[in-house]
Amino acid sequence: MIRSVITGCGSYSPERVMKNTDFEGIVETSDEWIVQRTGIRQRHIAAEGETTADLAEKAAREAMADAGVTAADLDLIILATSTPNNTFPATAVEVQHRLGMDHGAAFDSQAVCTGFIFALTTADQYIRTGFAKRVLVIGAETFSRILDWEDRSTCVLFGDGAGAVVVESSEQAGTNGDRGILTAHLRSDGAHKDKLYVDGGPSSTGTVGYLRMEGREVFRHAVAMIADVIEAAYAATGLTSRDLDWFVPHQANKRIIDASARKLGIDPSKVIITVDRHGNTSAASIPLALCEAVGDGRIKRGDLVMLEAMGGGFTWGSLLLRW
Ligand code: ACO
Repeated sequence: MIRSVITGCGSYSPERVMKNTDFEGIVETSDEWIVQRTGIRQRHIAAEGETTADLAEKAAREAMADAGVTAADLDLIILATSTPNNTFPATAVEVQHRLGMDHGAAFDSQAVCTGFIFALTTADQYIRTGFAKRVLVIGAETFSRILDWEDRSTCVLFGDGAGAVVVESSEQAGTNGDRGILTAHLRSDGAHKDKLYVDGGPSSTGTVGYLRMEGREVFRHAVAMIADVIEAAYAATGLTSRDLDWFVPHQANKRIIDASARKLGIDPSKVIITVDRHGNTSAASIPLALCEAVGDGRIKRGDLVMLEAMGGGFTWGSLLLRW
């Protein structure tokens, strides 16, 4: 059967690093509070004029070089973001143009922090139906642009960045031993739309707006929703937490990650953590973490890797793959 195999990985974080202590004088907070509640120690912040498309392009070029492909080899680009350069056109077409790709198609996908899982699952569907052979999937965000820098309960949590993967069609045996995406599960429930949202938009206020969040409510739902989609992946494959080599969660909050791993019986040594250095980069967080663990040799060919995320909407999803 046809499987979607990740053949290249790339990432980019803006040069400017903002440490927790840099918030002193901006809002009433402390390094101790932020580290204890979230595990975040620093985040990268895009330079003035540096856009989501800039970050996305850099991550994309690295992923394409890693996969050994050029723009001519791609059929499709899917870019997950909630912070596009413009309301339209899609940031994906800007990246498509910059990469010199004048064939195929490019579009954005919007599922906030679950964006990369939604985009990668969409790519998998296109590949498995034969619609595309080689897809570039990017998660890129400049959340610093939608933060209310006077709201200490949100501005300390997020950062900017981008990650990208090249996904290719590959004929496999159709077993759990296959390389590539084995199963993916997506969920959303708009009943929770007011718990994490941006209070602006072209059709409502005519402004960009700022991120608003009921942090405690998000926290209360997160672990159960993450467990829900991971258990769906286990039910679909017959695999369990014991079979996993690596767990690459969305990097929102170390406490949510630890609680999810504990609930699912995933050994802490198998959990990839970057939230301490990146903060929550929304759709970029999973590919940033994945690329780091592939780059430093932790994730190796044949390893079983579970990706998961939960975010605004609420949206949540899991994706199980063999590297
Ligand atoms: N520094 C110091 N004090 C703060 C700060 C801050 N940066 N932010 C809030 N506080 C204060 C609050 O004002 C409150 O004070 P009060 O008791 O005097 O009213 C106190 O700290 C406790 O506030 P809580 O909101 O109850 O703090 P909590 O322990 O829940 O931690 C947090 C807050 C970190 C936001 C937590 O709720 C959380 O992690 N929630 C999940 C949020 C998240 O991860 N969102 C992203 C996931 S979804 C996505 O990725 C888009």
